[in-house]
This record gives sequence, C-alpha cells and structure tokens, in this order.
Amino acid sequence: MALWSVFLSLLACALWSLTHSASAAAQAPTWCGKFYEPGSLPTNPGGQFHIPAYSEPPLLNFGCAPSNYVGTHVHIPPGATLPVHVWVDDTVLVAGEVDVGLTGIEMSFNFSQLTPRSKPYTLSCVLDLPDGQEVKAENRLTYLPPNPFNGSTTKFDARTGATLVKSFDTGVWEPIFPLGFYTTFGGYLEYNLTILDHTKEIGYNMVHPVPTFDNLTAFNMVLDRMEQLGLWLMTYMNLSSVTEQVNSLKNRTNLLLWYTGDEPDGTSDPLNATSIARDLIYELDGYHPVSLVLNCQNYHWSEYTSGADIIMEDPYPIGINATYSVRWNTSCTTELGDCGCDNCIGSYTDITTRVGEFAFRTQMTGRQRNLTTWHVPQGFGSSEYWAVTPTGQEWLVQCTLAINHGARAIVPWVEPTTSSIENSARKLSQSLPVLTAFLFDPKAITGSILTSSTVDLTYWKTTHGTLLMAVNMAYEPTELAVGE
Ligand SMILES: *[C@@H]1O[C@H](CO)[C@@H](O)[C@H](O)[C@H]1NC(C)=O
Ligand SMILES: *[C@@H]1O[C@H](CO)[C@@H](O)[C@H](O)[C@H]1NC(C)=O
Ligand SMILES: *[C@@H]1O[C@H](CO)[C@@H](O)[C@H](O)[C@H]1NC(C)=O
Ligand SMILES: *[C@@H]1O[C@H](CO)[C@@H](O)[C@H](O)[C@H]1NC(C)=O
Ligand SMILES: *[C@@H]1O[C@H](CO)[C@@H](O)[C@H](O)[C@H]1NC(C)=O
Ligand SMILES: *[C@@H]1O[C@H](CO)[C@@H](O)[C@H](O)[C@H]1NC(C)=O
Ligand SMILES: *[C@@H]1O[C@H](CO)[C@@H](O)[C@H](O)[C@H]1NC(C)=O
Ligand SMILES: *[C@@H]1O[C@H](CO)[C@@H](O)[C@H](O)[C@H]1NC(C)=O
Ligand SMILES: *[C@@H]1O[C@H](CO)[C@@H](O)[C@H](O)[C@H]1NC(C)=O
Ligand SMILES: *[C@@H]1O[C@H](CO)[C@@H](O)[C@H](O)[C@H]1NC(C)=O
Repeated sequence: MALWSVFLSLLACALWSLTHSASAAAQAPTWCGKFYEPGSLPTNPGGQFHIPAYSEPPLLNFGCAPSNYVGTHVHIPPGATLPVHVWVDDTVLVAGEVDVGLTGIEMSFNFSQLTPRSKPYTLSCVLDLPDGQEVKAENRLTYLPPNPFNGSTTKFDARTGATLVKSFDTGVWEPIFPLGFYTTFGGYLEYNLTILDHTKEIGYNMVHPVPTFDNLTAFNMVLDRMEQLGLWLMTYMNLSSVTEQVNSLKNRTNLLLWYTGDEPDGTSDPLNATSIARDLIYELDGYHPVSLVLNCQNYHWSEYTSGADIIMEDPYPIGINATYSVRWNTSCTTELGDCGCDNCIGSYTDITTRVGEFAFRTQMTGRQRNLTTWHVPQGFGSSEYWAVTPTGQEWLVQCTLAINHGARAIVPWVEPTTSSIENSARKLSQSLPVLTAFLFDPKAITGSILTSSTVDLTYWKTTHGTLLMAVNMAYEPTELAVGE
C-alpha cells in the first residue's frame, strides 16, 4: 500500500514537470532551442550531434559515390586486395580490385552504356571479403539529359567539393569559387541596377538577393541584368510557394543554386522541412544544388543538413559579448541565452572551430562526397549583438580562416557594406583564379602547418606548384618561417 502511493506521487510529479516545460516552450521564444528572454531559465536544448562510440577493433568504412567521372571511393582497414563490383541499377558496369586501406579509388566506365534520364540511377558497390561476406554501399548516380528548361546546369565534383559551371565567356565546364554577398533587395537593388555593375567591377561572381521581393517587375529586371553581366544567382526560396518560385526561375541561364533555409535551426523549424523542400526542388528542377545556412553550433545538425547539398555556417564573432546578452540581459551558456553567435567565445577561433566541426560531422555522417561547406563571414555590425563592424582586414581574416579550414565559397552578410570591406573583397576576388586552380585540383595534396597560436596556415601542393595561405589573427605584425 505504502509503495503504491509513493509510485503514484512520483508519477504525478513527473507529469506536472512535463506539462510545465511543454507550455513554457509553446509560449517563450527560443534560439537554437534555448530560451533567451529576460528571466529565462536554462534548459538542455537537445539535438546535439551524436558522435559514434570509439571502437578498439578497426571498423570497415566502405563508401561508394559518383564523381565527376564516376568512380568508387573505398575506405577499409589495411590488408589485402579485394574484388569489387560496381552496379548501376541491375547491371554490373565495372569490376575491379581495391587495395585495402586506400581512399579515393576511381574506377572508370563508359557512359555510353547508360541513357540520360531525369530519374537518378542507383549506384551500388559490392565488396567481397575474404570470409565470403559481401559488403554493399549505395548512392545515387545522376546522368541527366540537357536541361529541358534551357536554364543553366550546375555540377558537383565529388572529388574536391567544387561547384562546376559552364563559363559565361568560353562555354567550357570549369570549377567556380563563388564569392558574392547577401544583397538587400527592398529599397536597394530594387531601385538601382547600377549596383550590379559595381558588384561586377569589384569582382564578385555571384549575387544572393535578400527578400522580400515585393516588386516582381523590379526583381525580374535585376535577374535580367545579372544574366547580361554574367553574375551567378543564388536564390532565396520562400517555403510557402516553392513550386511557383522554382518554375519561374529554373529557366534562368545564370542560376547557380537554390537556398531553402535561412537559419532554420535558430527558429527550430520542423526538422523535416529542409529535406521536404529539397525533394520537391529536385522533382521540379534537378539541375541545381540546394543550400541552406545553419546558425547554431550544435542543434539538430544531421536533420537539417540531410536536406542540403551545400551547407553554410554563419558564426559572427566580432564585437559580441559572448557570455552576457546585451540585447536580452541574460547570460549565454550552452543552455541559455542568445549572444549573436551560438556557443562562441567571441574570437576568430569560433570560425575555425565551426568549419572544423562541420567537416567532422560531414565525415561521421558519410557525406564527404556529397556535402560541401560554404562560409558566411560577418560584413556588418554596430547593431543588435555586434558592438562594432569588422574592418576590411578583419573581414579578410574571417574569409581566409574559413577557406583554410575547408569552406569552398564566401557569401558574406550583407551588402550594402563598408568601402573598407569592399576593398578587401576586391583583393579576395583577384586571388580567385589562383584559389580555384589549387583548391579544386583533385590531385592537390593539402595540409596545415602549425607555427604559432595566432598564425593559421594551409598549403595545397599540385604538379604546378604550392599555394600557401597564411593568416595572422593577432593585431600586431608577426614573422613566419616556413621550410620546404
Ligand atoms: C564508349 O563506347 C562507345 C560506343 O561503344 C565508343 O564509341 C566510345 O569510343 C567509347 N568511349 C570510351 C572512352 O571508351
Ligand atoms: C529551349 O530552346 C529551344 C531552342 O531554342 C526551343 O525550341 C525550346 O522551345 C526551348 N524550351 C523551352 C522550355 O523554353
Ligand atoms: C546606384 O548605385 C551606384 C553604384 O553603387 C551608385 O554609384 C549610385 O550613386 C546609385 N544611385 C542612386 C540614385 O542611389
Ligand atoms: C513568403 O510568401 C508569403 C505568401 O506567399 C508572404 O506572405 C511572405 O511575406 C513571404 N516571405 C518572404 C520572406 O518573402
Ligand atoms: C516596380 O518596379 C518597377 C521597375 O523599377 C517600377 O517601374 C514600378 O513603379 C514598381 N512598382 C511599384 C508598385 O513600386
Ligand atoms: C522562363 O519561365 C518563365 C515562367 O514560366 C517565363 O515567364 C519566361 O518567359 C521564361 N523565360 C525564357 C527565357 O524562356
Ligand atoms: C514532417 O514532420 C511533421 C512533424 O514535425 C509531421 O507532422 C509531418 O507529417 C512530416 N512530414 C513528412 C512529409 O514526413
Ligand atoms: C560582457 O558583459 C558583462 C556584463 O555586463 C561584463 O561584465 C563583461 O565584461 C562583458 N564582456 C565583454 C567581453 O564585453
Ligand atoms: C536590458 O537592460 C537595459 C538596462 O537596464 C534596459 O534598458 C533594457 O530595456 C533591458 N532589455 C530587456 C530586453 O529587458
Ligand atoms: C550522400 O551520400 C550518402 C552516402 O555516402 C548517401 O546515403 C546519401 O543518400 C547521399 N545524399 C544525396 C543527397 O545524394
């Protein structure tokens, strides 16, 4: 009898606290799953990335992906040479052997054996282990007919993470390192097409107009002018009317990619929203990749990125108070508050940490052959959480750090910006041909060199030479000695 009543009271208690937190969640706004208004209490936001347990015996990591030329990428523990068969749908297209322990093994086959079609083929690689076991890895292989809408086509090089386009000038396929700002439409681009000429003159190769696009006539005039100037378009989607927007834009000759989510993790959008939008866009178009930006450091990363081919991150660390929210008068911790840069410390290392975490998670989720990270540097400030606007030099430091750690495009927030930042952007744009040649060379050997805690240095070594990118995070000059 006594036991029974204790049990009942515990149950009542648990029910009460569940109801209590559910109703609080329904009322109080959150960012990255954390309450942030004055007087809020800390709560575990959940949604943390699951890091697989460490295994003492080595595990088999066997992957299979189409590359630009189609191949298999196999990762297995050191040992013998094993037979592998590559299937496309129900047909074996190529058979060969793989050396255990090697990665990035390419196997070529003749595309004339396949018919271009809008429906992706199923690519499977089957590995025969010495004990008779078969290991199978599957992926999608897309072999499309020419774009039936007469729009552009964007390809992806699974070997390097590069985006490939047909050059406006030569019509030849080439990798592009996209550089272009989020650019205010209402009250700015909307009224002044000459801004696009200025954009082109600075050396941006892409524009990402920011809605709302209330005046559709003006919006279409902006897109026409961009087509004339040879500026690529990254386009915001309004998820309430994906079909209309995709159908009206998919025949643009300068469409680079779709953009379906502006910090959906910040606002805790439904976890399946990004993949539902991606599936619909693939069905309506299928010739351009889908991107979105995540603002949180560690909040449902796997779910939101499952709907993206290109994932952007936007930690803005300059001029923040990382521990106390100047906007909401609460502390900021992993369980509370919003300080403008989620779980940041207010230093450049917030950028390297974030890009590094994205790279790690990309590997852990087996997506290193079909997910690329792009970076959104801070090109604004003196408002909200950010006490200052970065200088041009500070802006360039952010870009270089992100590139050194794996970002493959720069899409800053936001134009209009300062002339100091535009001058730095001009310098970055001048180095794009070199960056493109080294970063997107599939044979490049890359690594980082640790020389001091404030200098970040990455190299890319190809048959043509070596590119070194070094950045000084300190505010005084430093000297650097690098050996061969
Ligand atoms: C692919 O096959 C077609 C038709 O059999 C042939 O004409 C072509 O030369 C082959 N290409 C290569 C690279 O083997
Ligand atoms: C694409 O271009 C071709 C040739 O110019 C034309 O015949 C066709 O109607 C166009 N298709 C669409 C969907 O506009
Ligand atoms: C339009 O933009 C150009 C380039 O940024 C600028 O020089 C010009 O002053 C702008 N015109 C107006 C009316 O704002
Ligand atoms: C999205 O579309 C809806 C209606 O179609 C509109 O009310 C809303 O303002 C749009 N949002 C943006 C950001 O354009
Ligand atoms: C929309 O933009 C066009 C082109 O700039 C302009 O002529 C028109 O007056 C604008 N419409 C409204 C309602 O502002
Ligand atoms: C592109 O498609 C839109 C919407 O269907 C149409 O209004 C426009 O004329 C098309 N543009 C070209 C160049 O075919
Ligand atoms: C998406 O998730 C919501 C719950 O958040 C669910 O109600 C809905 O059915 C899901 N949609 C699909 C297509 O799975
Ligand atoms: C952040 O704000 C707190 C509280 O006002 C203050 O004590 C602290 O010095 C601030 N830190 C920075 C880096 O500004
Ligand atoms: C935060 O505190 C400041 C100074 O006391 C006050 O002016 C401001 O209204 C407070 N902000 C909020 C959101 O309560
Ligand atoms: C990306 O590759 C993984 C396997 O490595 C596969 O499971 C997934 O379906 C692929 N995603 C897309 C969008 O192609």
